Amino acid sequence: MRPLIAAVDLSAIRHNYAVAKRCAPGRQAFAVVKANAYGHGVREVVTSLRGEVDGFAVASLEEAAEVRALDDRSRVLLLEGCFEPGEYPLAAQLGLDLVVQGPEQVEALLAASLSRPLNVWLKLDSGMHRLGFAADALRQCHARLRAAAQVAELNLISHFACADLRGHGLNEDQLESFLGLLDLDFDQRSLANSAAILTMPAAHMDWVRPGIMLYGASPFADLGAAELGLKPAMSLSAQLIAVREVAAGESVGYGAAWEAARPSRIGTVSCGYADGYPRHAPSGTPVVVNGRRVPLVGRVSMDMLAVDLSELPNAKVGDPVELWGAQLPVDELASACGTIGYELLTKVTARVPRRYLA
Ligand SMILES: Cc1ncc(COP(=O)(O)O)c(C=O)c1O
Repeated sequence: MRPLIAAVDLSAIRHNYAVAKRCAPGRQAFAVVKANAYGHGVREVVTSLRGEVDGFAVASLEEAAEVRALDDRSRVLLLEGCFEPGEYPLAAQLGLDLVVQGPEQVEALLAASLSRPLNVWLKLDSGMHRLGFAADALRQCHARLRAAAQVAELNLISHFACADLRGHGLNEDQLESFLGLLDLDFDQRSLANSAAILTMPAAHMDWVRPGIMLYGASPFADLGAAELGLKPAMSLSAQLIAVREVAAGESVGYGAAWEAARPSRIGTVSCGYADGYPRHAPSGTPVVVNGRRVPLVGRVSMDMLAVDLSELPNAKVGDPVELWGAQLPVDELASACGTIGYELLTKVTARVPRRYLA
């Protein structure tokens, strides 16, 4: 068997959910499990969290149906709403909570014939300008939806553009815009993602929506997950599958892009970009071999990458390699590669077996 595995510690996810709840005492939480639970495996994550969480949040009806099949009690929030008219009756059958984010969705909902009314989350565009109604338009929709037979609860939701940038002016503006609508009669309100849960208590409202923090990664560039009390859920682990000596001046890998400045011991690792490791990781990116950090050298291949083992003269074929996990936070690798932990976690490909620790 190819020695590459994504080990997922489900107890870490439960711990991180508890951290979110402690940050927002008395509030309810939608555990965000879209994109296959940020790459961790939605079946296992939902099974592990059900009974403990107040709800789940997903990005499509297909994802919602998968969650509903595993948990017929929790609320399941469709974050972007329905994409076509035929989805509304299905959303009702599944008993979903539904975001309504634009005029087309309002009309489709009001034209739909539903087996039961839906909890609707009317989305305010408080400043991100991605989804949602401007405040005035939202006020107009509010009255129509309040009177509609298709609507059970009528709730207010919005999303921060810059919650990960503490002190950014847009955060206050978005919060103000949200608060400015609370003279309207809403049953529930929700605004905070992980970054806002961790640093903006005024944004907690009735329901928080933790995503990345559940998986033990940090939404902040300047504040690590460990400092936030979060435990990493995923470790991506491989092995050395070859070790060789190269002379000074010899190159390693495709394009001969890295050249040894001194006689070097080179290890080949069983992980590449087809597994989700970023191809653009530069030489020097840390990789953990036998618990020690060594630099990546040369271009990442489809199934392999190379490391400089010169500081580890005893490293040999079969030795353990961690690409990210407890010894190398995914956020640190992401920052070395000019991306974010979210992208690395969601891009671990299907061919990488997941192994679960309860
Ligand atoms: C509307 C909405 N709420 C909450 C989240 C969770 O965000 P985070 O993973 O930063 O906690 C997301 C994620 O993209 C989202 O789109």
